[in-house]
Amino acid sequence: GGDLRVEKYLQPFQLSPETLQEVSARLRKDLLRGLGKHSHHKAPVKMLPTFVRATPDGTEKGDFLALDLGGTNFRVLHVRVEEEAQKVLKMDSQICAIPQEMMLGTGEQLFDHIATCLGDFLESHNLKGQTLPLGFTFSFPCEQLEIDKSILIRWTKGFNCSGVEGKDVVQLLKEAIHRRGDYHIGSVAMVNDTVGTMMSCGYKDQSCEIGMIIGTGTNACYMEEIKNVKRIEGEDGRMCINTEWGGFGDDGCLDDILTEFDVEVDKTSINPGVHIFEKMISGMYLGEIVRLVLVKMTKDKLLFKGQISEALGTCGLFETKFISEIEEPDSGLENAKKILTELGLDWSLVDASVVRLVCDTISSRSAYLCAAALATLVNRIRNNRKLGHLKTTVGVDGTVYRKHPTSKLQKAVRLLAPQCDITFLVSEDGSGKGAAMVTAVAQRLAHQSRLLEESDGEDNEEEEEEEGQ
Ligand code: BGC
Repeated sequence: GGDLRVEKYLQPFQLSPETLQEVSARLRKDLLRGLGKHSHHKAPVKMLPTFVRATPDGTEKGDFLALDLGGTNFRVLHVRVEEEAQKVLKMDSQICAIPQEMMLGTGEQLFDHIATCLGDFLESHNLKGQTLPLGFTFSFPCEQLEIDKSILIRWTKGFNCSGVEGKDVVQLLKEAIHRRGDYHIGSVAMVNDTVGTMMSCGYKDQSCEIGMIIGTGTNACYMEEIKNVKRIEGEDGRMCINTEWGGFGDDGCLDDILTEFDVEVDKTSINPGVHIFEKMISGMYLGEIVRLVLVKMTKDKLLFKGQISEALGTCGLFETKFISEIEEPDSGLENAKKILTELGLDWSLVDASVVRLVCDTISSRSAYLCAAALATLVNRIRNNRKLGHLKTTVGVDGTVYRKHPTSKLQKAVRLLAPQCDITFLVSEDGSGKGAAMVTAVAQRLAHQSRLLEESDGEDNEEEEEEEGQ
């Protein structure tokens, strides 16, 4: 009897291969809507151009600063790209906490704080006199107009600073630095963390053309043919597109697979109705989904003798990191007991194993949904290039990817994209180093086009001379 009732709760989270295929097909349509000239402004999956037109070719080099804002912490880095060693080295870095109040305060406060952290870093590393180019990883959906002009569309992941949405984030950063007036920065390149991740892996493995994050939030970017990006002029070459797949489902197209718990998590979030896909997958929400399931099961007298503790009854107190601890193959059950005790619950052995099952079910769903979305991207790249078989590399980062078993995700992608052979490369410090890499590639391209112009110029002179003769 008990087992069946447990099953009843978990079944809506268990997505069959057919359902995943259907999810992947829906995303395929949404990618097209996002890329279309007339459909993009209403598209839930925004498919944002990044102005990154090339992945590294291995000749980049130099010293850079990088800022990384978008997860739980803000980081400043000094990065060196070494051509000889084909390595991106993190010389130094510093973490600055962003207090909760600041995440919900004014934009000016936030950017002043960022400028202060950067100033302190430059000061303590003796870099204040130099004017280094800066890569700014800003992991929120932005309408990018240039590599250094990027308008925040909306905040996600618990941030909600006033006066930033609709504004150019690079400008806000420069203004904050200007207000201080004690140091300068060189050219700025803005990147999403997915792009940073792809680019930092791309230095090591030049077939890396997808970047994926499964952390506090979730998202991916990939190299698309420019001719398919209808908002951008040009027919030749590729551009990296920031899909913002977290917004998949915002038009209701995933309603049939949402559980009552997903609906509840969305309703109580600070951004109801948006980033529906992200809320089923990413670290900011997984713990809360588990908590809501456990509460309901307890009310139904399936767990903890029907007694909900104060902690279990409190929003946000079942942390996502508990899930990976409870899922651990060897020590999982022991961890579960410890966590349940800390949450003030009167548990039995059966309770502990049911909790494990709940955690496993919800983290598996997250992995499978990501797999479905990733399959859509690799299948698209394969079709774009009219290849029977595609071999490609995905740069990945994020705590949810790192801390949870990845075999499920990988197996599911193989099933959903059988003609693609995918290598997963976990990026170390990708979003920081990658921003530097983007800056480095942009410099290389600018340098190359200057050389081209110069040699064009020479040709012209010759022609003129010829005409004159
Ligand atoms: C943001 C993306 C970001 C992702 C992962 C999402 O909430 O909208 O821009 O890439 O989180 O950090």
